[in-house]
Amino acid sequence: MAVRPVLRMGDPRLLQPSRPVKKFRTAELQALIADMRDTMDALDGAGLAAPQIGVNLQVVIFGVQKNPRYPDAEDVPFTILVNPKLTPIGEAVDAAWEGCLSVPGMRGLVPRFVKLRYQGFDENGRKIDRRVSDFHARVVQHECDHLDGILYPMRIRDMRDFGFTEELFPGEEIAEE
Ligand code: NI
Repeated sequence: MAVRPVLRMGDPRLLQPSRPVKKFRTAELQALIADMRDTMDALDGAGLAAPQIGVNLQVVIFGVQKNPRYPDAEDVPFTILVNPKLTPIGEAVDAAWEGCLSVPGMRGLVPRFVKLRYQGFDENGRKIDRRVSDFHARVVQHECDHLDGILYPMRIRDMRDFGFTEELFPGEEIAEE
């Protein structure tokens, strides 16, 4: 398996909606997920969506382990999510800083639903159905946006809340998604 190059904002492939996966338990799907995992790990990312490595399929992975480098990040279990469907729970929205492996070195303040239900499948076609909140909910919304061709800067309400990580958070290391 391999670490693949991550497409950066400006590449038109990041703006295309992704297609659903039709067959599970295939060598192609396994290889895609292995490459995504290798790429996310190599870049210390919190998540990655298939279109970020140029594959136009509805596959995202994410997960954050308790890490001294990211003391404020909650633990999010490593998850492979195929053909996701998101349903917000309630109307509460919260803004927090996000980064993205496709927008390296930048951070922006992004409003997201605080609570949501997400459904989909794992790599073997087993159903996933979870209700989550806060950081976990944020990561899922960020990754699933990639499947609709949406990058987080498109959701920033005030462009003064967008900038280089080194200027906004001097000396801090923060994971990108
Ligand atoms: Ni991203």
